[in-house]
Amino acid sequence: MTQLSRLFLLLLLPTLLLAEAPGKNAIATAHPLATAAGQQTLAAGGNAFDAAVTVSAVLAVVEPYSSGIGGGGFWLLHRKDGHEVVVDGRETAPARAHRDMYLDQHGEPIPNLSMDGPLAAGIPGEPAALAHIAGRYGKLPLSQSLAPAIHLARNGFSVTPHYQKMAGWRLEALNVSPAAAAIFLLHGEVPPLGHTIRQPQLASTLELLAQRGHDGFYRGKIAHMLVEAVQQAGGIWTMEDLAGYQVVERPPLKGHYGDYTITSVPPPSSGGIALIQMLQMLERLDYAAAEPPQRSHLLVEVMRRAYRDRAHYLGDSDYVEVPVDHLTSPEYVTRLAAGIDPELATPSTLLPGYGSPVGGNDTTHFSILDREGNYVAATLSINYPFGSGFVAGISGVLLNDEMDDFSVKPGVPNAYGLVGAEANAIAPGKRMLSSMSPSFVSGPGGTAILGTPGGSRIITMVLQGMLEYFDGKEVESWVSRPRIHHQYLPDILYFEAAALSEPLLTALHGRGHILSEAASSWGNMQAVHWDERTGRVTAASDPRGEGRASVR
Ligand code: DON
Repeated sequence: MTQLSRLFLLLLLPTLLLAEAPGKNAIATAHPLATAAGQQTLAAGGNAFDAAVTVSAVLAVVEPYSSGIGGGGFWLLHRKDGHEVVVDGRETAPARAHRDMYLDQHGEPIPNLSMDGPLAAGIPGEPAALAHIAGRYGKLPLSQSLAPAIHLARNGFSVTPHYQKMAGWRLEALNVSPAAAAIFLLHGEVPPLGHTIRQPQLASTLELLAQRGHDGFYRGKIAHMLVEAVQQAGGIWTMEDLAGYQVVERPPLKGHYGDYTITSVPPPSSGGIALIQMLQMLERLDYAAAEPPQRSHLLVEVMRRAYRDRAHYLGDSDYVEVPVDHLTSPEYVTRLAAGIDPELATPSTLLPGYGSPVGGNDTTHFSILDREGNYVAATLSINYPFGSGFVAGISGVLLNDEMDDFSVKPGVPNAYGLVGAEANAIAPGKRMLSSMSPSFVSGPGGTAILGTPGGSRIITMVLQGMLEYFDGKEVESWVSRPRIHHQYLPDILYFEAAALSEPLLTALHGRGHILSEAASSWGNMQAVHWDERTGRVTAASDPRGEGRASVR
């Protein structure tokens, strides 16, 4: 290198580096208090990973119906040096769990047993994930990142219309647990708007986690409290279950759509595989060039096929053989796409192999980009609104009911109408199959960071968010686009009222699709867009929810 070119490089270097950093912080979460707390952590010198810890913990406090330290989730991280990882903080089945634990003596599922009360709860992963992310990727001590959540747990937050809706839905389950009713209800009823929910016991539990890290939750005082309360109420957790919990770092799953790279979550989530399959089928079917009725038809047909594979093949890959490479291979996806009739719906019963799903906006997602170019997409859950409805004694921890995400019995639909097979059967220590799909897309239009709650509908929502992005739409459109959903079984095309016009409905009906307009909207997508070409950073929070996006 000549002296002149070296000098040129030296002068150019700062601008090159600048182009690689957004210079702005962007956060989109499902609750204004979580967005504000995340910005506070960034302003205090934290990076996107510290902010992710803060936001997760604040959401655990102010959205108790969505996620919590009694639950788990997947945190997809991108470090500015290009390192990417999935922090899998999914719950695990306790050691005393077994495949038929929710069946009666006739082999039939016992109603609600996998949904309500401590028997429905997997071993939580979120506390371990937060300690792990702070320790390995953050710049701030865990105690600093958790401080806003501790403050909010102690001082309280206000009941919103959404809180009321969720509490109303789970009123019965919450009233079964005296500790839950005392915290989340008022005299056994849904609290009035503006009522302050204080959680001093949860604040103390979070403090122990802040001081002692992982072991503060999984060993010692808190662990004892959790196990005792769970066992007293008929649950099966042991101290060994808690002491044995570990997060798993997994390489993210990668796929392509045109010039774009998709980065998402591998098993035990079904999201990454399904997204890659659907996008690759759409590419082969030339979706981008198709017109409206054809577009909707193709969307439904690729959804149907990806969800068929989900039901058939997917489970925790640490326990069962999941043919990830085969399912996402060009040859296999080409074959799947070739089976799609361009004119007619394929009845799901005609696909090889094999209730009405719900998908609201419990569970939660957030997206964060920091000014240096680190970013996070995370989807966290306690499954049903307010999880199992069970608070474990004076720990203040509301437990998940994620065990229902296992296939309780082959072919029997879960709360989201999803069916599963052997791959997702219950086994001690195993992680239940998830649909959570925190994702990144990178390519000519910049970087997209997105995800949403919504049970079985998560994956099709993320797909439709990505398609908006590929169509060049603004981030607001990704999160607000009216949605459709098909999940193989039941063989029904669900749609939000604004998603399909009358002529479209007629056209789809004519092609043999069975249509059902949803009574209410679904999802709560949170997204950030960083366009590296222009340096523009934007963020949006789904208008269906109560969240907030902020760029600073
Ligand atoms: O992991 C899963 O797929 C589910 N437990 C997520 C639940 C959910 O999104 C609930 N929201 N409606």
